[in-house]
Amino acid sequence: VKKLGLLYEGKAKKVYMTDEENILWIEYKDSATAFNGEKKATIVGKGRLNNEITSLLFSKLHQADVRNHFIQKLSATEQLVKKVTIIPLEVVVRNYVAGSLSKRLGVSEGTSLEKPLIEFYYKNDDLGDPLLLEDHIAILKLATSEQIAVLKESALKVNEILTQHFQSCNVRLVDFKLEFGMDSEGTILLADEISPDTCRLWDMDTNEKFDKDVFRRDLGSLTDAYETILQRLGGSVKCT
Ligand code: C5P
Repeated sequence: VKKLGLLYEGKAKKVYMTDEENILWIEYKDSATAFNGEKKATIVGKGRLNNEITSLLFSKLHQADVRNHFIQKLSATEQLVKKVTIIPLEVVVRNYVAGSLSKRLGVSEGTSLEKPLIEFYYKNDDLGDPLLLEDHIAILKLATSEQIAVLKESALKVNEILTQHFQSCNVRLVDFKLEFGMDSEGTILLADEISPDTCRLWDMDTNEKFDKDVFRRDLGSLTDAYETILQRLGGSVKCT
């Protein structure tokens, strides 16, 4: 596959066309943003860490028959994916209360939820990614109720697989965000990335944070935190 022109540049990734119509070339950048782009930094090594981690996790999901866009890792910071039209929804799955849920409900961070909570947010920077009810999704015609059911089922399956996988690495999967897209045949595929940028990942024993909250809340070295996740997923601690 040959890399062609830049199609889109986002906050954390660059997307290039290729000589294959249905394949995109992704490059993970060394930039970190938070609070809808208000906080920004260049963090050397972050692109490599997220590319490595997301590649491992998407391969794991592929083995477990979760249809997704990932094709292969090309280099430390690059990967090939199937081209999809992104559904402008952020599908958040939570196993413990944290972040915006803690603020919205006034429940302390770390409180465990009896069953996973799924939330939908509107992927829209101008509006600040508001929380959506399913009826809002219908009004905006972002997805049909059948498609919403597919997104929920897939999100719960991803949660089961990743919760167990991280647990075997002594990491607690607190919450995470997924994005889905439609391929040229109209099939819904899991897309975007799954990395410490898009998950909350805490040490199972100490609750030390190894995710983007380290950057959002100035808790220390982001690359050290992400390196710990990469090592636990593929290195010293054995994972199943
Ligand atoms: O901020 P909030 O608590 O709603 O985030 C829930 C989860 O979704 C966190 O793991 C966070 O990293 C992720 N998220 C994301 N991109 C966003 C919003 C949230 O990856 N735009």
